[in-house]
Amino acid sequence: MTGEQRDRIRVGFLGCGRIADLSCLGYLDHPRAEIHAVCDVDEARAKHRAEQWGAARVYSDPDELFADPEIDAVEILTPHHLHAAHAKAALEAGKHVSLQKPPTRTLAEFDEITRALEKTNLTLRVFENFMFYPPHVKARQLVDGGAIGEPLSIRLKTAAGRFGDGWEIAPQTQAWRMDTETCGGGATTFDHGYHCFNMGRFFMPEEVERVHAFIHWTELAPNQRIDGPAIITWKYAGDVPRFGSWEVIASLGMRVRSDYYASDDRIEIHGSEGILWVNRCTGKLLDEPAVVLYRDGETRAFHDLECDWAASFRIGGKSFVDDLLEGRPPVHGSDEARRTLVFALAAARSAEQGREVALAEIRSEAPGPIA
Ligand SMILES: NC(=O)c1ccc[n+]([C@@H]2O[C@H](COP(=O)([O-])OP(=O)(O)OC[C@H]3O[C@@H](n4cnc5c(N)ncnc54)[C@H](O)[C@@H]3O)[C@@H](O)[C@H]2O)c1
Repeated sequence: MTGEQRDRIRVGFLGCGRIADLSCLGYLDHPRAEIHAVCDVDEARAKHRAEQWGAARVYSDPDELFADPEIDAVEILTPHHLHAAHAKAALEAGKHVSLQKPPTRTLAEFDEITRALEKTNLTLRVFENFMFYPPHVKARQLVDGGAIGEPLSIRLKTAAGRFGDGWEIAPQTQAWRMDTETCGGGATTFDHGYHCFNMGRFFMPEEVERVHAFIHWTELAPNQRIDGPAIITWKYAGDVPRFGSWEVIASLGMRVRSDYYASDDRIEIHGSEGILWVNRCTGKLLDEPAVVLYRDGETRAFHDLECDWAASFRIGGKSFVDDLLEGRPPVHGSDEARRTLVFALAAARSAEQGREVALAEIRSEAPGPIA
């Protein structure tokens, strides 16, 4: 049964770890949604979430979740090496899917999901919450409305601070994120990077054509490496010369004020007639207005914006439910998500091979060993 025929969307959560704290918000807040079931291999964790959210069913085996006939959609919040198999199985069981970023480790894995999707009338979206963060939405409206003229350049900065500040992260979560086999790439430039690469696409009128990346791996402890600092630059397609860059700075002695991860992101977009700054995202690093516009010799600040990072999850969760209820294509469906994934994979290849990489080089290899 499709979302169009439902008057409510019943969601099953697969994975009840750290980010479930925020991923639940849009569903709990929506008058026509309910979290019907939760599933986690860690049964105690699943039970705790079910109590918190009032979910009727608790599972520890994903196949039981997929087989639950009451569920319309699955929110997938498992480690990346499981995304392809979980998304595919959910679609094959007739469930809509909201899949956390990055969708998969490789393009071949992503295309396995797409092939499963194409056999259905179901909806799949990759949940990239930066797209719903109110200051980003405001900045995009300003760009689209011509506030800076023709967008010419974008610069993103991620300031990562001292470990141990901000949210408590379970050692097992830290472990799978820092293992490139389970993460799919670096915890910074591939995992977090999906957001930044997507922002590089979100604000500019052309697709990215070529990318060059320097990624340094810093040893934190024996068998623990983090991919930062890094600097990644790219060129957009089209006749107008447009460039973008993303810099990751690991200031491991710096305290970053944050209710979530001890890291923050800033964006600067230059156009032919003005400049836009988005001064915060995940953290609360700068006491500056969330969005600032410079144009015609005047600087205008936008203070009246919700800028708690959690808002991006609440709004993004509701957006998925509304799209299902209205039978609309989702925000960041499979075509868009594939483009962002290709960009991220091209940057990783560039750093590995020490050369500029065209995104057209990134192709779906032979299908991987997806269960
Ligand atoms: N949008 C964001 O900003 C953001 C932030 C953090 C995490 N994420 C994404 O959310 C996802 C989850 O990340 P997290 O930080 O919550 O990780 P986590 O390790 O805290 O949670 C993962 C959960 O999955 C469970 N799990 C593992 N294998 C399972 C299986 N086979 N079946 C059922 N459950 C299983 C684990 O027990 C754990 O509870 C990842 O895709 C991550 O990149 C996104």
